[in-house]
Amino acid sequence: MAMVDPDVSKVSILGSESIILGFHITEYIIRDVLTSIPASNYVLITDTNLAPLYLSNYTECFKRVSRELAEKKGSVKEPRLFTRVLPPGELTKSRKTKDEIEDWLLSNAVTRDTCFLAMGGGVIGDLIGFVAATFMRGVPFVQIPTTLLAMVDSSIGGKTAIDTPAGKNLIGAFWQPQRIFMDLVFLQSLPEREFANGMAEVVKTAAIWNESDFIKLETGVDAVREAVLNNNPTVPLQGAKLDTRTEAQSLLLDVILASARVKAEVVTNDEREGGLRGLLNFGHSIGHGIEALVSPLMLHGECVSIGIMKEAELSRNLGHLSQVAVGRLARCLSSYGLPITLDEKKVKDRIGNMHCHVDDIMEVMKVDKKNQGDKKRIVLLSAIGNTLEKRASVVSDIDIYKILAPEQLVLPVTESATGPRKEVSLTTPGSKSISNRALLIAALGQGTVRLTNLLHSDDTQYMLAALQSLNAADFDWEDNGDTLVVHGGAGRLSVPEKEVYIGNAGTASRFLTTVLTMIPKAEEGNASAAILTGNARMKQRPIAPLLTALTASGANIKSTEKEGFLPIAVTPTGGFKGGRIELSASISSQYVSSILLCAPYAVEPVELVLVGDQVISQPYIDMTIAMMESFGVSVERLPNNTYKIQQTSYKNPEHYIVESDASSATYPLAIAAITGTTCTVTSIGSNSLQGDATFAINVLRPMGCVVKQTETSTTVTGPPIGQLKPLPTIDMETMTDAFLTASVLAAVTSNPQGENITRITGIANQRVKECNRIAAMVHELTKFGVTASELPDGIQIHGKPIKDLKPPKEGVHCYDDHRIAMSFSVLSSVVPSGTIIQEKKCVEKTWPTWWDDLEGKMGVRINGVDLGKKKGQVSNVLGRASNSANKKMDHQKSIVIIGMRGVGKTTLGQHAAETLGFNFVDVDQHFEKVQNITIYDFIHTWGWEKFRVKEAETLQELLTDPKYHRNYIISCGGGIVETADSRAVLKDHCRNGGKVLHLVRDMDQVSSYLSRDQTRPMYGEDMIGVWKRRRSWYREACNYEFVAYAESLVEGGWVSPGDWMAIKKDLQRFLFFVTGRQTNHVDLTPGRIGIPTTFVALTMKDLGAHQSRLAEICEGADAVELRVDLLQQPEDQQNDLKSYIEYVGEQLAILRRSVPLPVVFTVRSKGQAGTFSDNDEKGMFDLLRWGQRWGCEYVDVEMCWSNAAIEECIANKGESKILGSWHDVRRQTPWGSTALEARYDTADKYADIIKLVGVATSMLDNIALEEYRSDKVNGKPMIAINMGAAGQLSRVLNEVLTPTTHPALPHAAAPGQLSLAEINTTRHLLGLLPLKKFWLIGTPIQHSMSPTLHNTGFNALGLPHKYGLLECHMVEYAEDALLKDPEFGGASITIPHKVNIMKYLDRVHDSAKLIGAVNTVFVRYEEAEDGTRQRRLIGENTDYLGIMRRMQPLMLDPTKPPEQGLVLGSGGTARAAIYALHSMGIKKIYLWNRTTSKAYELQEVFKSLCGVNVLESLDAAKIAPGVIVSTVPADSGLELPEHVYGGVKGIICDMAYKPRRTKLLLQAVRKGWSCVEGIEVLVEQGLAQFEIWTGKRAPAQCIEAEVLRKYEL
Ligand SMILES: NC(=O)c1ccc[n+]([C@@H]2O[C@H](COP(=O)([O-])OP(=O)(O)OC[C@H]3O[C@@H](n4cnc5c(N)ncnc54)[C@H](O)[C@@H]3O)[C@@H](O)[C@H]2O)c1
Ligand SMILES: [Zn+2]
Repeated sequence: MAMVDPDVSKVSILGSESIILGFHITEYIIRDVLTSIPASNYVLITDTNLAPLYLSNYTECFKRVSRELAEKKGSVKEPRLFTRVLPPGELTKSRKTKDEIEDWLLSNAVTRDTCFLAMGGGVIGDLIGFVAATFMRGVPFVQIPTTLLAMVDSSIGGKTAIDTPAGKNLIGAFWQPQRIFMDLVFLQSLPEREFANGMAEVVKTAAIWNESDFIKLETGVDAVREAVLNNNPTVPLQGAKLDTRTEAQSLLLDVILASARVKAEVVTNDEREGGLRGLLNFGHSIGHGIEALVSPLMLHGECVSIGIMKEAELSRNLGHLSQVAVGRLARCLSSYGLPITLDEKKVKDRIGNMHCHVDDIMEVMKVDKKNQGDKKRIVLLSAIGNTLEKRASVVSDIDIYKILAPEQLVLPVTESATGPRKEVSLTTPGSKSISNRALLIAALGQGTVRLTNLLHSDDTQYMLAALQSLNAADFDWEDNGDTLVVHGGAGRLSVPEKEVYIGNAGTASRFLTTVLTMIPKAEEGNASAAILTGNARMKQRPIAPLLTALTASGANIKSTEKEGFLPIAVTPTGGFKGGRIELSASISSQYVSSILLCAPYAVEPVELVLVGDQVISQPYIDMTIAMMESFGVSVERLPNNTYKIQQTSYKNPEHYIVESDASSATYPLAIAAITGTTCTVTSIGSNSLQGDATFAINVLRPMGCVVKQTETSTTVTGPPIGQLKPLPTIDMETMTDAFLTASVLAAVTSNPQGENITRITGIANQRVKECNRIAAMVHELTKFGVTASELPDGIQIHGKPIKDLKPPKEGVHCYDDHRIAMSFSVLSSVVPSGTIIQEKKCVEKTWPTWWDDLEGKMGVRINGVDLGKKKGQVSNVLGRASNSANKKMDHQKSIVIIGMRGVGKTTLGQHAAETLGFNFVDVDQHFEKVQNITIYDFIHTWGWEKFRVKEAETLQELLTDPKYHRNYIISCGGGIVETADSRAVLKDHCRNGGKVLHLVRDMDQVSSYLSRDQTRPMYGEDMIGVWKRRRSWYREACNYEFVAYAESLVEGGWVSPGDWMAIKKDLQRFLFFVTGRQTNHVDLTPGRIGIPTTFVALTMKDLGAHQSRLAEICEGADAVELRVDLLQQPEDQQNDLKSYIEYVGEQLAILRRSVPLPVVFTVRSKGQAGTFSDNDEKGMFDLLRWGQRWGCEYVDVEMCWSNAAIEECIANKGESKILGSWHDVRRQTPWGSTALEARYDTADKYADIIKLVGVATSMLDNIALEEYRSDKVNGKPMIAINMGAAGQLSRVLNEVLTPTTHPALPHAAAPGQLSLAEINTTRHLLGLLPLKKFWLIGTPIQHSMSPTLHNTGFNALGLPHKYGLLECHMVEYAEDALLKDPEFGGASITIPHKVNIMKYLDRVHDSAKLIGAVNTVFVRYEEAEDGTRQRRLIGENTDYLGIMRRMQPLMLDPTKPPEQGLVLGSGGTARAAIYALHSMGIKKIYLWNRTTSKAYELQEVFKSLCGVNVLESLDAAKIAPGVIVSTVPADSGLELPEHVYGGVKGIICDMAYKPRRTKLLLQAVRKGWSCVEGIEVLVEQGLAQFEIWTGKRAPAQCIEAEVLRKYEL
C-alpha cells in the first residue's frame, strides 16, 4: 500500500501535544512510538474482536518500520514485539487477567525497558494502563482507543483500573499514557450500539461546555453516521490526507476533537479530581445509580444518557434550566439512538420487567466517590453549554427523589403551613395548532417577528426544521430558547438538499405539502424535486384529497410509494398556480388550512371551493383565517363554502405571542376554583377561537367563581373551599377536552338547598381518546369515594364534602393520558393527606413542565413516590407466575378444516370427528342442501363470484348456528379462502377461541393423485397454480396445521394403506394435543421416578436422511428437540412447491412418525448460540408461530427478543408450553447477578419452563450455578446449565429436561453436551443415582429372556442397575430381597408366585387384581400422614399391556376395534388376554377352553368388568372374531376350525413363543391374518416393566434386537 504521510490533528494535554487524531494512521503511530518511546520490548494487547481485523496490519507494519529504523541507525538489534489477544468484555478487567499478563511477560524475560500499546476499548485501555503502572514499578504506555467512548473519555486522563467482586474500578492508579492515538477508521467496525454508547459522552461534554459544539451534534446526526458507516471503497485511505477527506469525515473529526479537547483541558487544569473535573460527571451521578442496577444489560453510555435527562430535569425543577434546553437534550440523545427514560421500549427490551426502584438508585448514589458527606453533588446545567457553577452543585435527596420517582404524591394546600398561594399568574403552554400556523406564517412573512410561548413538541420541531431546510426564513433563539426570532423570507423557497422528514407530525405534513408546490424552480446543481416523507405511521395517513386538488391546479406531485400517501416528490413548475381550486374537506380541515395559508403567494388569486357533503372542524379553518388576518392578509368568505384570497404577502408584527392551549389553561384556573384562590392565565382570553377558552365563563362562573376575561387573559377567583356549586346539566360539546377538569370540580360541590349532582353531556367523543375517558373518570373518582356514573353521552357526578374524600392507596391510574393526570392533580390539591398520581410522565405530551409548574408556580407541594418493587423484594405471589396472555381456547367449539382439494379433508375430517366424538359436516353439501341446488348448477346460473359470496355466508351461518357451532368438524371446499370475506370469517373463528385446521400434503403427491382421476376436472385451472395462489391465504386463515406425511405413493397415486394408518395415528395424536385431551407433556414433578428428565437435541441438517436412526437417537429421552435453525432444505427439494415452511413442517412430520416423544420446537439465534439471524425478530416469531400451529408440545422462546413479540407469541400458545430460554454466550449475566435475575424474571413471567444457560470456564462457575439453582427450587421448573467442557457437571446435576446428545448424532448441539448414558453414568459415580437390584422371581427361570432384556436396557441408558435371577420354589425365599434389601428396585414375578407375592405388597393395581396375578413389582416412596417417607411395594400386571401394545398398531384404526374377540385357554394368561381385549374396546369377548368349567370360572371373575361369552365348542360356534389371543401351550398343537377365521382379515396373537411361529400362527397367516408372536408380547411386557421401574421410555430397538439374537441362539 502506498505510504502516505497522513494529516493529523493534535490536542495538548498536561503540557504536551500527545493526543493525535487522524484517519489511517497505523504507520504514523508505529513510527512515532518507535522513535519517541524507544524500548527493547513493545507489548501490544488487544481483544478478539479487534485482532482479526487489525492486528496483522500492525505487526507487519511494526516489522517493516523497525527494520528500516534499525538499518538507518546501523544497529543490528531490532526491538521485540509481543502481542496478546484477550477475550472482550468487562470481565477481562480483572485481577486474574492482570496476573496472567504479568506472568506471561515475566516468563518471557521482559524487562523494565518496555512500552505497552493498549489497542481496544476502555476495557483494554484501563487494564493495560494499570498493568503498565505497576509493571517493574511503572513503564511507559500508549493508548490506541478503538471505541468512541475510549477516544473521547477513557483513554484521556490517565485513570486506570480493574474490577473486583466488590465493585468496578476499585483498584487502580493514575498513570498517564505517553501518547493517545485516535485512528477514526477503527470506528467503521464498531457496532452501532457501541457507537451510540460513546456519543452519550460526546453529547454530555458539549452540553456542559459549548453550545456551538452542541448545535453541531444536533444538526449533524446524519453526517456523523455517514462518516462512520459509509466508507467509499474506491478511494484508498480516504481521509488520511485532507484532500480525500469528506465533509462528513471532517465533521466526525471535529466532534471527537471538541470532546477530547474538553476532557484534555479539564484534566490539564485539574489532574486529580477537583471541582472542574467534576463537571465531566454531568449525567453520571444518576447514570451510575442506574448503571449499577442494570449493567451489563445496558451500557454505560445508555445509562448516562438517561442520567443526563434526569439531571437536566432536576435543574429545570430547581428553576435553573428551561424546558427548551431539556427538550433539545432529549431530542439530541435520541437521535443518536440513545434511550432517554427507563420506560422506553428499547430499555424494557434490554432489561425485561426489571424495575429500577428509586430507593435502589439512591442507595448506589450514596456511595458515590464524589459526594460530600451525606450531601449529593450533581452538575446542574443552566443552559446548553453552561453549568450553574463551575463544579457540581449540592442537591438535597428530596429533590433528586422527586425527579427520579415514577409516581407523584400531590399534597393538599390546606395542609401546608402557609396555606394556598392566594394569587397566581402564569402563562400556560402554547397551542399546538397555533404554534404550527405561526411558524409557517412568520417564515413566509416580511420582516422580523419574535414568537413567544411556542409549544416545544416534536410536531413544531419538525415544522421548524422543514422550514429551515427549505430556506424559507432565518431563525435565531433568544432568552435561552424562550423566544424564537424569525427573519421572514417573504415567500422565498428552494428545493431542499435532502428529503424533508416530518416524523409523525400530521399538521406539518399537510401544511408543508402546499408549501412545496410554492417553490418556483430548482436551482442549478440541486435536486430537481422536493421530497416530503415521514415515519411508517405517517405514511399511512391519507393526504389524497389535498394532492388531487393541488395537482388539478397545476402542481407536479408524485406519491413515490403508495398513491395518495407520503412520501411525495414535488417538482417545481414555477410556483403555486392558484386560481379556482376544488377541495374535499370532509376528511380533514388541515387540507383547507394548508391551501389558505399559502394562497397569498399564488400566481393567480385563489378561489377555494370546498366540495362534498360536509366540512369538518370548521373552528380550525376559522382559526387559520383569523391568524392570517393578524399577519395582514384578509380572506373573503363567499357563500357555499368558498373562500377568496388576493395575492399579497404576510406582514410580520414585531412580536407575536402564541395563544395558550385552552384545554391546558383549564387546570390552573380550576385549582383557583377548588382552593378558593385567584389565578390569571396571561395568554388566553375572549379573543380566542378555541372552544375550551370558554370554560371559565361557561363552567367556572356558574359553579360560583368570579371570572374576569380580557381579550388575551383570563382570571378566576374561586369561592371559599368547599363551596363550588353543582351544575344540574351542562352541555360541553364545544369544549369536550375540558370535561375532565369539570368532573373533578363536580366531585367537591355542595348544595345545601337541593340536589348535589352535576351532569355533563355532549362528550361522547371522549370515549375514543387516549383512553375511554368517561369510564376512566368514573372509575378513578369512585376510588376517592365519589359517586359517579356514565350517561349515554356524558357523566354524572355527586358532590361530596372534601373532608370525606379518601385518596386511593395505590393512587390514581392515568391510562397514559395527560389530561387524567392533570385533572386529578387539581382534585389532589385539596384531598386530605395527599394523593399519588401514577405514571407522572404522561403529562409530557402537552405540558412537560406540569409538575414543576404545579409546585413552583401554583404553589402545590409535591413529593416523589415509587410504588414499584425494590431489589430483593421479589415476591412469590401466585399472580406473577400466571401467563394471563394465554387466551383460553374453547375445545368444544367446532373445528373448521381447510385445505386444497385432494389432501383428504373428507377422509381425515371424518376420522377427526370420530376421534374427538364430534359430528361431521361438509360445507359444500350443506350448501347444496340449504340452497336446494347443486354447486355445479349454482355456478352455472350465478357465476363464481356469487358462489363465493354465498359460500362465505354458509360458513358464517354454520359457525353461529347453535346446532353446528359446537362439537362439529366443518370441512370446507378448497376455494373457501379465495375471498377476503371468507378469510375474515375463519380468522374471527380463531380469534374467538375456535380452531381452523389447515390440512396439507405434499403437493406433488396430491397432483399425481388427482390427475389419476379424470372425473374430477380442475375447472380449467392447473392445480399447482391454484396452490401457489392460495397457500398464503390458507396459512393466514388457520391457527393450526396438520401435515399429512406419506413416504411415497403406490400405483395410481394412492397413499399406501400403511401410510394412511400412520397418518391417521399422527392426526389423532395431533388432535388430542390441540384439544388438550392428551398433551403428551413430560411429567416434571420433582422427585418422580425417572429424574433427571432429558430431551435429546437433534442437530442434523435434514431428518429424512436419518429417519431410520431417529428411534435409536431418542432412546431413553423424555422429549426431543427439533433445532429448526440447523435444518437445511436439501437443494434438490427446493422448489416452489415446497417452501421453507413446508419443508420444516414435513421435517416435523417425519420426526413424529418415527418418535412418539413430545417435541421441543427451537429456533436458536446466533447471539444465543444458534444460527438464526439476530436481527430478524419478525422472522423468528413467524417461525415460532408455526411451531404452535403444528401443535408442538414445547416451543422455545428466547428471552432476548422484545417483550411485545414474546407477549404476542404466548397469546397464541394454545396447549404448547413455552420454554423461556436465555443463553449467556457473551458472559454478561453471571449466576446470581442482577442482570441474570432480570432474565429469570422475564422467563418467569412468560414461560412455563425457564431455561438459563451460562458458560463455565472453571468449576467455580458450576458452584455458582448450583447456589443459584438452590435458590430457585420453589419456582417454576428450571433448566440451568453451563456450556463448555468445564460446565459438564452442571448438565449432570440439572434434573429438569437436560439437553442431551446421542452418539449417533452428527454433532452435539452445544459445547459440553453429554449423552443420556454419560449423564446417568456420572450421576451414579456421584452418588446421585444409586444402583438398584431387580429380580426375576419364580421357577424354572434359567432360560428366561428377562435378564437380557432389562440389562440391555439399563446399559443402553447408562443406568447402573442389575437384573438377576432369584430362583425359588417358595416365595418366602425372596422375602429378604424384597423387604430387607435397601437396594431392591423391583421384580418380575413368574410361575408359580404370581398370586402368592401379593401378600408382601402394599398395593395391587386393579388390572392385576382382575387378572388375579402380579407379574411386576415396583417400589415407590410416598409421604405418609406423619410426613415420613415410606417405601411401598406395588403390584401390577404388564402382560395385558404387552398384548395391547403389540396388537393395536396392527389395527387399521385402533379407535375402531373389531366387534368380536376370542380368547383360547383359561389360565392366568387368558385372564390377561381378556383384560387386554376389554381395554382395547372390544365389545363381544368369546372364551374357549378345553375344560369348559374353567372357562365359566373366568366368566364369573370378569363379571364386574365385562361380559365373557363361553363357547362350549369351536366347531359349532357362529362367531366372526377380528382378534384372537391364544394362551394354550404350543405343544398342544392347536389349530382352529377354518370358519373361525371367517371373511375378515384379523389379528392373532399366540402367547406361546417356542417356536416363534406356532402351528396356530402358521395356520392364521395362511388365512391372511396378521400375527403377533409370543416373543413380541414377551418383549413388550418387559418394556412396560422397564418403563415402570425407570420412569423412562425403554430403548426398544436395541432391547428387541438383543433379545431376538439371544432367542435365535
Ligand atoms: N479510565 C477512564 O477514565 C474511563 C472512563 C470511562 C470508561 N472507562 C471504562 O471503559 C470501559 C468501557 O469501555 P468501552 O465502552 O470502550 O467498552 P469495551 O472496551 O468493552 O469495548 C466495547 C466492545 O466493542 C468492541 N470493540 C472495540 N473497538 C472495536 C472496533 N473498532 N471494532 C469492532 N469492535 C470493537 C470490543 O471488543 C468490545 O466488545 C469500562 O470498563 C469503563 O469502566 C474508563
Ligand atoms: Zn462516562
